Amino acid sequence: MTDRPYKEHKNDMDAGVLLDAGRLLSWYDENRRILPWREDPAPYHVWLSEIMLQQTRVEAVKRYYARFLDTLPDIAALAAAPEDVYLKLWEGLGYYSRVRNLHKGAVVIAEKYGGKMPETAAELIGIPGIGPYTAAAIASIAFGERIPAVDGNLLRVFSRLTAYAEDIKSDAAKKAASAYYQKAMDVAADDRPGALNQALMDLGATVCLPNAAPLCDACPLKAACLAHRTGRETAFPVIQKHKPRKIEELTVFLIHDAERIALRKRPSKGLLAGLYEFPNTKGHLSEQEALDYIRSIGFSPLRIRRLTDARHIFTHKEWHMTGYEILADELADLQADKQGSQGIFLAEIREIRDTYSVPSAFAAYSALI
Ligand code: ADE
Repeated sequence: MTDRPYKEHKNDMDAGVLLDAGRLLSWYDENRRILPWREDPAPYHVWLSEIMLQQTRVEAVKRYYARFLDTLPDIAALAAAPEDVYLKLWEGLGYYSRVRNLHKGAVVIAEKYGGKMPETAAELIGIPGIGPYTAAAIASIAFGERIPAVDGNLLRVFSRLTAYAEDIKSDAAKKAASAYYQKAMDVAADDRPGALNQALMDLGATVCLPNAAPLCDACPLKAACLAHRTGRETAFPVIQKHKPRKIEELTVFLIHDAERIALRKRPSKGLLAGLYEFPNTKGHLSEQEALDYIRSIGFSPLRIRRLTDARHIFTHKEWHMTGYEILADELADLQADKQGSQGIFLAEIREIRDTYSVPSAFAAYSALI
């Protein structure tokens, strides 16, 4: 990378808020964590480490990283590896789709890029398992591209440095943080974008800690940090509280005869799309209302029994369920046309275990069959 002069800023506001990349890099050179993928930042090493670090802590990753590379030392080896081998190397790390995608990515690189990792974030984003963050991390660390790799650490550091007042989880915050770091990277005289990204990650992980615990005394950027200067370091990042979840009351029916139980497929769009559920209806129905409802959908109830109440919490709503077990006559009729009233059909218990996926929202009732 060429040396470029540090550009002057038009006004004090700009200059005051701009990240001092030189200062941060000096701190990094003194204080950086020694991590194996940093000692030899070959593209494959950076890629592997970034994927492992997505949901796993640095300390735990170190062992897995070394073992993975012992067995599969390069992209060609990974591309050629049988599934059992790379799954075993991932055992204990969890989120196995990560290693499946890593393998798919290696195959793509072997076939489409002649075994050589593409060098720009724009190209890397097209590879399985590589999103904007990972693409930026690889491109900057392994290839020196000037592009910020905005993860949770960089967002938190940004929010405190600039006293960013909006919700840190918003798309707007990600854009603002990217723009802020991009500007610092583009004008920095010390042109080491990969080191700058990792300096920010380390600052976030060891100094600018989450919750109420930033160690501002140890921070190389405290003099310029708006949150620190105004004594509000614990007020950032701003984390918007969830709107209270919408509560939906449901009555769930386990309608069965001796062998089969009524199921219905959920719509192909929306919550739990395409999965199977026990027939249910809005509201908490009394026993009499439940019997009326059961008859209205074509069953002849012989016996009814109240089941346990249950709750399931989704991101934006909660189901508060009550349930009834119904022993019904004439289930055979329903089965005859396969798609009975409201798409309800009859499944054998074994099929519910092996074939029809009933989501865990209904677990309290599934457990009873
Ligand atoms: N977390 C994710 N990537 C990292 C890296 N390159 N260094 C330190 N922590 C990280």
